[in-house]
Amino acid sequence: MAIDQGTAYGKPAPTYLAALTLVGAGTPMGELLRRYWHPIGLASDATATPRKVRALDEDLVLFRDGTGRPGLLHPRCAHRGTSLYYGKVEEHGIRCCYHGWLYDVAGHCLEQPCEPNGGDKRFNIRQPWYPVEERYGLLFAYMGPPEKKPVLPAYDVLEEPGAGEFLEADDSSIGSGGPAIVPCNWVQHFENVMDPYHVPILHGSFSGPQFVEQMAQMPSVSWDWTGRGLRSVQIRNLEGGRRFRRVTEAVLPTLRVVPSPRVGQYGRVESIGWVLPIDDTSYRIYVAGRVTEPGQLGKMRSKYGGKYWWELTEDEHRETPGDYEVQVGQGAITFHSEEHLRTSDKGVALLRRMFEGQLEVMKAGGDPIGVFTDPAKALVRLEAGNFLDE
Ligand code: FES
Ligand SMILES: [Fe+2]
Repeated sequence: MAIDQGTAYGKPAPTYLAALTLVGAGTPMGELLRRYWHPIGLASDATATPRKVRALDEDLVLFRDGTGRPGLLHPRCAHRGTSLYYGKVEEHGIRCCYHGWLYDVAGHCLEQPCEPNGGDKRFNIRQPWYPVEERYGLLFAYMGPPEKKPVLPAYDVLEEPGAGEFLEADDSSIGSGGPAIVPCNWVQHFENVMDPYHVPILHGSFSGPQFVEQMAQMPSVSWDWTGRGLRSVQIRNLEGGRRFRRVTEAVLPTLRVVPSPRVGQYGRVESIGWVLPIDDTSYRIYVAGRVTEPGQLGKMRSKYGGKYWWELTEDEHRETPGDYEVQVGQGAITFHSEEHLRTSDKGVALLRRMFEGQLEVMKAGGDPIGVFTDPAKALVRLEAGNFLDE
C-alpha cells in the first residue's frame, strides 16, 4: 500500500524574516524606518485634547499647545511615570495631572509647582519627545537619531495641483481593503503594492470585478528600480488598439504610490499613501491627494458587490475577499519559511532585496536612499499614473 506523502504531520516550525518585519527601536528595520519622517496623524488630530498615538511600536501622546505648535511626547511623565494622556494642554505645553509638571512641545520642563521656587532644577528635566512637522494636512514625526534628522520631503504630485484641484488628507487606510487599523505586519501590505498579478485574480475572477472592467484583464508586468524605490508597469491592451499603461510605485520607506484602480480618468497619480507600521502586527495608511471635491479620496476605496468592507457579513467576507482578507489571512507576521515565490513574485523579491540593501547601507554606517539633508533635493518626482497610449 502506498504511503501518503506531504501530510502536515512533522511540518517544521515556521519562521519569519525578523530583520524585514520587526519595527521596534533597535531592530534592523526599526532603525531603518527611524531614519525617515512618518505621518502619525491628521493635522486636525493635534488639539488641546491629548490623543494617544502608536507608531513604530511606541506609545506617544499628541497635542497642540495654545500657541498652535503640535507636540508629540512619550506618555510616561519624567517625574513619576503617570501618563500625560491625562494631562491638560495649556498655552505653552501639557501639564501632568499628578503633580503638575508642565512640558513644552520639545519636552522641556517649564514648571514643577510642588517644588520650592517652581523647581530650581526643572530645566535639567527633558520629557522624551519627537519633532513634528505639518504638511499636506498630515502631521509627520521624526523618531530617529536627532543628528541624522533629514528634511521632510515634498512630492511633486502634491505640490503642483491642477486647475480646480485642492489637497485632501485621509486617515481611514484607503488601499488597505478594510478598516483603518489592519491587524498584520505592514510589509504584507507593502509587498502587495508590487504584486499586480493578484489584481485580475483576487479583484477580478475570484471576487468579481472590485475595480473597473479593464483591471480584471491579466496584464503584462515589468518591475524596475527608480532610485527612490520600485516601479511596476502593467500593460493591458484595450479595444481599438489602445494600450492601458498603469504605473505603480513603492517608494522608500513606506510610500504606496498607486493610481486609483477605478481609473476615473487617465493621468498622473492623484494621491500618496504612507503605510505607518503601528507595531509588528498592525499598520494603518495615511493618504494625501489632489481632489476636485471634498471626500473624493474615499471613492478609491474598494467595494465588494456594491458594499463597503464594514457592511459585509462574515459570509460575504469569505465569499468576496479583498486585500484585507488576503493580507490578514497571511497571519500576523507571514511565515516566509513556508513561501514558494515564483516568477510573478518578482516585485516581492525585489522589494525585499531593496530593504536588505538599505539595511546593509545602514550597517556600514551610510545613509539610506531618500534621506535628504539639503532642502533643494527634497522634492521627489513620481512617475505613477494610469496612462492611455493611443
Ligand atoms: S508624575 Fe507627572 S508630575 Fe508627578
Ligand atoms: Fe489588491
